[in-house]
Amino acid sequence: MNTGVFGCLWGDEAKAKIVDEELARGCYHANVRFQGGPNAGHTIYSKGKKYVLHSVPTGIFYEHLDLIIAGGCVFHPTVLMNEIRDLESKGISFDGRLHIFSNVTIITKYELASDGAMEDFLSSSSFKIGTTRRGIGPAYAHRAARIAILFEDLFGDDAALLEKLKRLSVDVNPRLVAYGVDPIDPLDALSDLKEHSDFLRQYMVYNTYIGELLESGKSILFEGAQGAGLDIINGTYSFATSFPLSPGAIQISCNIPMKYIHKIIGVAKAYPTRVGEGPFPTQIFGESEDSLRRTGNEYGATTGRNRRCGWPDRVMLSYVIRSFGITELAVSCLDTISKFSQEVGSIKICDAYSINGVNIDYPKSITDSYLKNIQPVYREFDLSCDCFRINNINDLPFKAQNFISQTQDRLRVPITMISTGPNRGDIIML
Ligand code: IMO
Ligand code: MG
Repeated sequence: MNTGVFGCLWGDEAKAKIVDEELARGCYHANVRFQGGPNAGHTIYSKGKKYVLHSVPTGIFYEHLDLIIAGGCVFHPTVLMNEIRDLESKGISFDGRLHIFSNVTIITKYELASDGAMEDFLSSSSFKIGTTRRGIGPAYAHRAARIAILFEDLFGDDAALLEKLKRLSVDVNPRLVAYGVDPIDPLDALSDLKEHSDFLRQYMVYNTYIGELLESGKSILFEGAQGAGLDIINGTYSFATSFPLSPGAIQISCNIPMKYIHKIIGVAKAYPTRVGEGPFPTQIFGESEDSLRRTGNEYGATTGRNRRCGWPDRVMLSYVIRSFGITELAVSCLDTISKFSQEVGSIKICDAYSINGVNIDYPKSITDSYLKNIQPVYREFDLSCDCFRINNINDLPFKAQNFISQTQDRLRVPITMISTGPNRGDIIML
């Protein structure tokens, strides 16, 4: 059986924790990252230590697993090298385990500079996205414009790579100058890319690699990054990342037939958060938001920015569950929202949006312009109880059981995991 794990809203849903627990079932041969890159910050606690992964799949902590970075991903060679070296220095072995598709898009100095320059240029305008500044958007843009550098380009002839960088420079440098940033010499970009290429060569495989594993009967866990609300086509555009994030992205990125994707786990944080700009209908403001942020330690794992925090939004979730075809839901951070409820008395839950005075329970779109016209409709819910580290449903306080069963009824999807703490085992499996 093959499984995809997806964030349901704007990322940081504790997907890595759910991936880790799913992998603990012991039935998978490989763990694949199929989109995104170092914009992701996947936090995992293993043997009492905290790790933040950016491009490396979470399965790194299971020695028997193959780890694959598939064609829809992007990364900067030095950033990936630093991540690998850092993990190795902590005693984690990559030997023969990591495989990177030859057609992955490489982030070069050009994409890094473009991302930062554009964000700075837009900093005081309503168009600012609040990206992670890791070069993600420009890398996917250059891929679509057919001027991107691919992983395999690092191992060919240097002169050919330099030609490709010169082609990129013709496109990017005038834009950098327009944004008030120094142009980049293609030779500098070349030496930056070549710095680790001899080492990285060992990881290259072709884009038929995953298909061959599946044909030979191996089971794979496909690990999503970001969350559905950030999907480039069906998310809160233009406040989005730059690649599709839905189950279809697995097919595109891994070059495999859809028939191989059997189980689709959506990870819904018990309360939504968002980093960066963009619509967020149930955002909390003021002291309450600050205190939820403190309770949940809601600071970006990649950029350290404050995460915006909100009340549970089952309307937005229902949109994602339907369009992604989510077959089961994992609810994360139940311990945090119940603790927060202890602090403030009761929480608010959004089960409907009001649009022109009419209540709807399912949005027809989640673009910025559509969401401008909606108002969340709230009801109070007393969730004050202690759920920390509970791992048996029978031990879960009644109020929390009620919260879970109402969520399940409203979203019409089985909840199969409830996370109650950061460590492996702090989970209720249903
Ligand atoms: P994980 O996998 C939360 C957000 C950024 C920004 C927008 C576009 O840890 O859940 P980008 O750098 O991708 O061009 O930024 O997307 N964003 C994330 N937010 N978690 C993530 O990843 C994110 N990756 C990107 O904050 O609003
Ligand atoms: Mg994260």
